[in-house]
Amino acid sequence: MSNRLAVNKDKKFCYDIVLEQDFSKLPEELNRLDWDLKEKKACIVTDDNVEKLYGKELANLLSPLFDKVELFSFPAGEEHKNLETVQNLYTVLIEKQFNRKDILIALGGGVVGDLTGYCAATYLRGIDFIQVPTTLLAQVDSSIGGKTGVDFSQYKNMIGAFHMPKLVYMNLSTLQELPKRQYFAGMGEVMKSALIKDGSFYEWILDKMYEICELEPKTVEEMVLTTCTIKKNIVEKDPYEKGDRALLNLGHTLGHAIEKYKNFELLHGECIALGTVCAAFISWKRELLSDDEYYEIRDMFVPFYLPITIEDIEPEKIVELTHSDKKMEKSGIKFILLKKVGKAVIDKTVTDEEMLAALGEIHFTDEDKKA
Ligand code: GLY
Repeated sequence: MSNRLAVNKDKKFCYDIVLEQDFSKLPEELNRLDWDLKEKKACIVTDDNVEKLYGKELANLLSPLFDKVELFSFPAGEEHKNLETVQNLYTVLIEKQFNRKDILIALGGGVVGDLTGYCAATYLRGIDFIQVPTTLLAQVDSSIGGKTGVDFSQYKNMIGAFHMPKLVYMNLSTLQELPKRQYFAGMGEVMKSALIKDGSFYEWILDKMYEICELEPKTVEEMVLTTCTIKKNIVEKDPYEKGDRALLNLGHTLGHAIEKYKNFELLHGECIALGTVCAAFISWKRELLSDDEYYEIRDMFVPFYLPITIEDIEPEKIVELTHSDKKMEKSGIKFILLKKVGKAVIDKTVTDEEMLAALGEIHFTDEDKKA
């Protein structure tokens, strides 16, 4: 099994995704880039949780390589993925005299990666950055493909830019330190990828359930590599989401709306699991999926401690929130449905009534509690 995937090899935006078990090879990977590192300053951008675990280690490892290494840390959590944090980072970069040849290093999960990428895309009209993802969700999804951005008011990822990283380097042993809830939330994105593109990978996940839950290193490596390969193949063909990249949004229309409705109390991957159950339900009602397929998809989230029902929601309000999502177009919401396990399709005809019925299916009501 190779531990390297080359995204867009031979084309303009090319970068490697490298899977390792520690950070020790990062200097070597940076040296492979055509950069004069001694001429560059680097700013490691991270959150306060990840800083405690790896901030010093990474700064010590990289300091001998660069002219200077700075560390910028902000409070962990989706509520800090905003323009205020971006402004604080711009201020540090200006004060430390970062110029166009200097780089940013995103060390952390999806929030850190998206926000750092957005700063890199916009500071001095764009500087280089690399991704060092430390959560499962960031390793299998958000660090790849150059989607960067921040939330704005109640709107998720509403401000952003496509800006490709120059390297994605993952130390898979960080997953062993990750709170279990975060790890399993990442499984929401892993299963999403299998469902949209790779039926045999879906079977493999079912087969390896125990090893995945136990974080068996070889199994985890194979799972991350397969999921990254699915994502790489999609973003290479459609980097700017003009077509098939939208398939990666399976479970995201209702997932994002639930995330917002619940004020980010649930993790992104947990909301994607709920959104995927809703998408599978609508697909089943449209007779794209059989009874068995629907129930199997729904129930496969359970061993990974992902929710398939939710309490205390107002379905109408959630549907209303889908109308302010980025995936909304004049012709309708770009909803992702499943034709079968391993094959997703874009559909713009999903109605509010269908979404309400799907939310009704996952809504665990007071009546359910009594029963
Ligand atoms: N996370 C979905 C995408 O990168 O397109």
